[in-house]
This record gives sequence, C-alpha cells and structure tokens, in this order.
Amino acid sequence: MILGFIGTGKISSSIIYGIFKSKLKVKKIYISSRNAKISNKLKKKFRLIQVIKNNQEIIDKSSVIFLGITPNVGNKILHKLSFSKHKKIISLISTINLIKLKKIINNKNIVRAIPLPPIEIKKGPIIICPPSKFAKNIFKHLGNVLEIKNEKLSYKFWSTASLMAAYYEILNTSSKWLVKKGINKKFADTYVAELFFALSQDALNKSSQGFKKLVADSQTPKGLNMQVLNELKKGKFFTKFSKALENVNKRVSK
Ligand SMILES: NC(=O)c1ccc[n+]([C@@H]2O[C@H](COP(=O)([O-])OP(=O)(O)OC[C@H]3O[C@@H](n4cnc5c(N)ncnc54)[C@H](OP(=O)(O)O)[C@@H]3O)[C@@H](O)[C@H]2O)c1
Repeated sequence: MILGFIGTGKISSSIIYGIFKSKLKVKKIYISSRNAKISNKLKKKFRLIQVIKNNQEIIDKSSVIFLGITPNVGNKILHKLSFSKHKKIISLISTINLIKLKKIINNKNIVRAIPLPPIEIKKGPIIICPPSKFAKNIFKHLGNVLEIKNEKLSYKFWSTASLMAAYYEILNTSSKWLVKKGINKKFADTYVAELFFALSQDALNKSSQGFKKLVADSQTPKGLNMQVLNELKKGKFFTKFSKALENVNKRVSK
C-alpha cells in the first residue's frame, strides 16, 4: 500500500508514528512539505517517507490519500486537485461534510475519520463514516475502529473528541496545584498521569456497568469525593461542560 498525506500537521504525524509502530504493511508514504519542521523530522526518522512539495504529485503517487488539512485550507486547495476514480481518500477535516467533499473532489471513495493523537501509540477510538473496508483495514492496526453509518450521528463524536485539551487542562491544574503545595514537579506530573490512567483503564474495564455507577461507587457519603463533585456541580461545571459539547455540535453540524 502506498499512502499519501496532504498536510503534515499534528494528526497526520500522529497517524504516521502509529503506522510505523504497527504491523500495517506500507511500501511508501508520501507527505507534503508543509509543515516543514514536522515533515523533515519524519523523513529523517523513517526511510519509507518521502517529502513532496506538490500536492497533486502526492495524490498521483499514492493509492490512499489522507487529507490532514484544516477546513479553510481544504476549501482553498481541494477543488484544484484531481483525484482519479481508483484513489481512496480518508478525510480528517473536521467541518467539510461528505456530500461537499464528494462534490469538490469528484470521487466517491471517501471516508471521514476521527482519529486522535494517541493513535501514535496505537491507542484510542477511531470513528469512521461511512463504514469502509479499506479504511478499517488501515485503522484496525492503529486503534479501536468504530464505524458509523449515519454521517449526522458521526458529527457527535467531533464534540467528544474536542474534550482533549480540557481533559489535559484538568491534569495540568491538578499537577500545578500539587507543585504549589510543595511537591516536586516531576513527581506531581507522574502521580497525576498515573492517577488518570488508572481511572480511565478502570472505566474502560467497567464501561458495561455504566458510568453513573462509577460516579456513585467512588463517593463515600459525606466523603471527600462527594465534596469535590458537589462543589463542581454547584459551580455549574458539568452544565457548562455539556453546553460546550452542544456548541461544538452546532459548529460541526452546519
Ligand atoms: N489534531 C487532532 O487531534 C485532530 C484529530 C482529528 C481530526 N483533526 C482534523 O485534522 C485536520 C488537521 O488538523 P491538525 O491538528 O493536524 O492541524 P495542523 O497541525 O495545523 O496541520 C495542518 C497542516 O496543513 C498544512 N497545510 C497548510 N496549507 C497547506 C497546503 N496548501 N498544502 C498542504 N498542506 C498544507 C499545514 O502546514 P503549515 O504549518 O506549513 O501551514 C499543517 O502542517 C483538521 O481539519 C482537524 O480538525 C485533528
């Protein structure tokens, strides 16, 4: 398989790192010279990578093409590019829908995907829409593939995928607080990462029970967990949290 990446930014590079840790067989990966810093680093690290300036050349040389560009760039450049009928395309672009993509690109073999940066360690859910053999055969090596038939429903996962930075800010705030109270920074960072890793692993193992039970089970009546939860609820933390999900949903559903 020969892969091409239009746009070598954060998510494209995460996918590429994941690929080279996986058993996916690739002959060659062509990546665009933008971003220059990331593409140079990838070229130096992996011998199967070739950096190409011209986006059309990347498409012509590849069998599967990833669109790792922002919606603005996509709207600017995609209509100038030609994708012949047998090319397969995986769009990572957040806000250009399938109908529009098919129109701009004039090719029906398009799948939209929502991978996340932990794909670089072959972890995490990868939403693909519509269900697709070729996309699944790639992503199954890189994480847990979840296929969604209905594109409108797939948009909902852009909201939950947008919790990443807020999640890390919770870790950052927790660690900073420990440091302020006199704990060594490295110690605090390791503790916080281990804490949330353990909670997430436990939540995954027990997800069939439902998270409501986990919330209940992790509180002793009048205990410390209950205190924090109640304080956050009083401050409307979770109402604002749901509102933020709703607002992303409005943005991606346009
Ligand atoms: N980051 C995530 O976790 C994530 C997850 C899923 C989906 N996505 C989606 O994936 C897309 C890319 O996100 P990202 O976070 O990877 O963004 P990013 O880091 O900004 O990467 C976009 C890349 O596109 C390049 N680019 C700009 N103009 C170009 C052109 N004319 N031809 C080729 N490449 C060009 C940029 O290069 P320059 O720096 O040189 O301008 C940059 O390297 C977005 O639509 C985003 O919503 C992101």
